[in-house]
Amino acid sequence: MLMTERHRLGQEVDALADRLGRDRTSLIPILLEVKRKYHTLDAFALQVIADHLGIHPVEVNSVASFYAFLGSGRQGRFVIRLCRTISCDMQGKRRVSRQLENDLGITFGQTTADGKFTLEWANCMGMCDQGPALLVNDQVYTRVTPEKVHEILEACRRVFGVHAKESKEVVIR
Ligand code: FES
Repeated sequence: MLMTERHRLGQEVDALADRLGRDRTSLIPILLEVKRKYHTLDAFALQVIADHLGIHPVEVNSVASFYAFLGSGRQGRFVIRLCRTISCDMQGKRRVSRQLENDLGITFGQTTADGKFTLEWANCMGMCDQGPALLVNDQVYTRVTPEKVHEILEACRRVFGVHAKESKEVVIR
């Protein structure tokens, strides 16, 4: 992280702490906000958060590493999580996972070289009767087929168009 980015991160965490609070109950919301914006929670970010909340960095690191959604490694702009639990497994998860890997050129647990997509496994997300289910960031997709994978990825890629804004949402019809 460059010095200017570090300075900016410090200011942003300070603003988040003003808005969300400066105690332990604010830790996860602040971690989520920083992760959402920077797609990573590196050692510096964890230290800054620890400083602003007055919590030991080891504790901040423990929380960040405990929750899969906060994984400290760098993730793509779109994190695709495919359910691997039994109902989705029996409803075609394997075909969907192969399609995702083929279309993105990566395997589960990896991020594309351009930093746009990360593929991860997820456990049951409560959509067992509508499997296979996957998440793209916070958005749930159900009854996903290999054909639908293509549509989902194309919608994500459109976000990276020349005039696309960072906050633009992906909409699949
Ligand atoms: S088994 Fe996949 S959502 Fe429940």
